Amino acid sequence: MKNKIVVIGSSNVDLIMKMDHLPQKGETVTDAFFMQTYGGKGANQAVAAARAGGNVAFINCVGQDAYTPQMVQNYKDDGIDTRYVFKMNNVTSGHALVMIGNEGVNYLSVAPGANYLLTNDMIDKAMPIIEEAAVIILQYEIPADTIKYVLDLATEKNIPTVWNFAPARAFDTNYLSKVTTLMLNEVEAGFLAGTATIKTTEEAEKAARILLNLGVKEVIITLGENGAVYFSSNEKHTMPAYKVDVVDTTSAGDVFAGSYAVGIVEGMTIKNAMRFANAASGLCVTKMGAQPSAPMRKEIEAFLKENV
Ligand code: RIB
Repeated sequence: MKNKIVVIGSSNVDLIMKMDHLPQKGETVTDAFFMQTYGGKGANQAVAAARAGGNVAFINCVGQDAYTPQMVQNYKDDGIDTRYVFKMNNVTSGHALVMIGNEGVNYLSVAPGANYLLTNDMIDKAMPIIEEAAVIILQYEIPADTIKYVLDLATEKNIPTVWNFAPARAFDTNYLSKVTTLMLNEVEAGFLAGTATIKTTEEAEKAARILLNLGVKEVIITLGENGAVYFSSNEKHTMPAYKVDVVDTTSAGDVFAGSYAVGIVEGMTIKNAMRFANAASGLCVTKMGAQPSAPMRKEIEAFLKENV
């Protein structure tokens, strides 16, 4: 049985400031706490899946700057296969500016750098590892053409895909029929389904039904403090969020995606995989930073024992 989780996507150097309130237009907020760490939705998902117990390979494109060697070394230290992390000259790696205000709410802006150079020919070079995939995870911080290319390939090779449609931006919805599991938050689901931002589980179901009608097999909508919901043509699950002390919500969705994939590849039921992913993202929001906050398998299991 194949068990490899192949994550195809972005990596970023994250520059984070936590402050007691986010600045208004023209305001300077002083006394912020600064932290430089590593992020990017693809890398966060790869790290989360590896720490949750997955056998992970990461296909990614990085640039040349002082931070990049350590960024890639960290993936190796987490046991991730980095043979297909491509390095480009004369471009920086992706960078993100993260501002965290009270209650862990964040503002994010991203300069994609080398992430936008992850192209179809690199995917072709990574074919040996793609052939081994039990599941492919994608996000949306790489070019739309690359996403389409991978979805075509995965369909042809019969490999299930988890597409975390984040961040939300225009996409050819004809391609959604090639997605096995579409994972999005309340803003992204509203954007893709053409509804308003989702506020209730009823609205989530309405958006999910629109997306299922476009050909997606399964839809998972993460609803922050309201948990997560799953819909397919014949199943529906609601998973309330765990009550935890929130420090930083950055990468909660990434940790959910990476650990959910581990659950599915291990043969957990959808409900149990969601519970596992919910626990992992609940732990993630109690710590600062994207990759530093992705929990280890033993932490997830201990949390699940304590929070039945
Ligand atoms: O999902 C969180 C991530 O989004 C951050 O790590 C940042 O790099 C951006 O990609």
